[in-house]
Amino acid sequence: MSALDSSIICAFLEADGQPVSGDRLAKDLGVSRVAIWGRLEKLRAAGFIFTASPRKGYMLKEVPQILHPTLLDAHCRRAKFSLSIEYLESVDSTNSEAERQLANGKEAPFIVLAQSQTAGRGRLGRKWHSSDKGNIYLSLALRPFILPERLKPFTLWMGLAICRYVEDSLGIKLGLKWPNDILSPDGKKIAGILTEARLDADTVRDLIFGLGLNISPQQDFPTELKAIASSLTHITGSPLDVNSLTAGIIKNIYTSWEEFKEDRWAHLFKEYWARYDILTGKIVTIQLRGEPVTGVVEGIDEVGSLRIKTADGKTVLISSGEVTLRS
Ligand code: BTN
Repeated sequence: MSALDSSIICAFLEADGQPVSGDRLAKDLGVSRVAIWGRLEKLRAAGFIFTASPRKGYMLKEVPQILHPTLLDAHCRRAKFSLSIEYLESVDSTNSEAERQLANGKEAPFIVLAQSQTAGRGRLGRKWHSSDKGNIYLSLALRPFILPERLKPFTLWMGLAICRYVEDSLGIKLGLKWPNDILSPDGKKIAGILTEARLDADTVRDLIFGLGLNISPQQDFPTELKAIASSLTHITGSPLDVNSLTAGIIKNIYTSWEEFKEDRWAHLFKEYWARYDILTGKIVTIQLRGEPVTGVVEGIDEVGSLRIKTADGKTVLISSGEVTLRS
């Protein structure tokens, strides 16, 4: 990633479609006009479309539809946000890569972000389909040094944060299906969360928050996934800017983590839960110690365990598992 390219793109983003003078850019960035021209040519080759009009300057008309580290950096700068982001075109799994880097002593926090994954992982040993470019596959790597009990509501809090961000930025109301599924308004999976932790004595030493968010119109989904999965573009019906969305999501998840770590989340949780939870009042089945338990969801307890009322009137608390909604 070139800092000069990022400053150039930042200037175009600030201009919001208006012309940017090459002379002005050169002066502001302390380089020659020829240098600016050369960088614009390089950016054109990477998928940016600029038009030039005499006396007015250049206009940014189109940006790449896949992750582009310099464009992502420019969006983060505009959002006045900075975090170490490791960008990879392809990796086995961003969670596995984050885990390796933490184990090698890399300073946290940092983000591992990939355009595609060859062995994307889901919960309960499942695969996460990750060959489509234009989606978000990322991991936030942390060294929190907190007690493991404190982590219990973490994934729920982060899932709610993602629902809030998508609603605020795109006007799409997604739903959170306990504990880690984010669903479209018609009940298809849009995003999944894989939180992994490494304990050291009594504290959480390494914490990895992995997010897969479908943005592109899922043309590569295998048939069996098409029936149960969807994407943000599918809902909007028009292309979305993956780089701007990724920058927003990264800022949002990191800010939400800080709120969590500093205990600034509990007073907001109830309101967000009431807004995005899709299970309360529904009949579900869940496996408990290998046995299916069916009942009506009453909500969650203070640490985020699911409360299910079974046919015999008992309330069962479930701390992890896979919920199946009964129609
Ligand atoms: C699930 O719904 O089962 C969780 C899916 C989590 C997928 C993301 S994609 C980025 C990160 N890297 C992985 O290998 N998995 C998570």
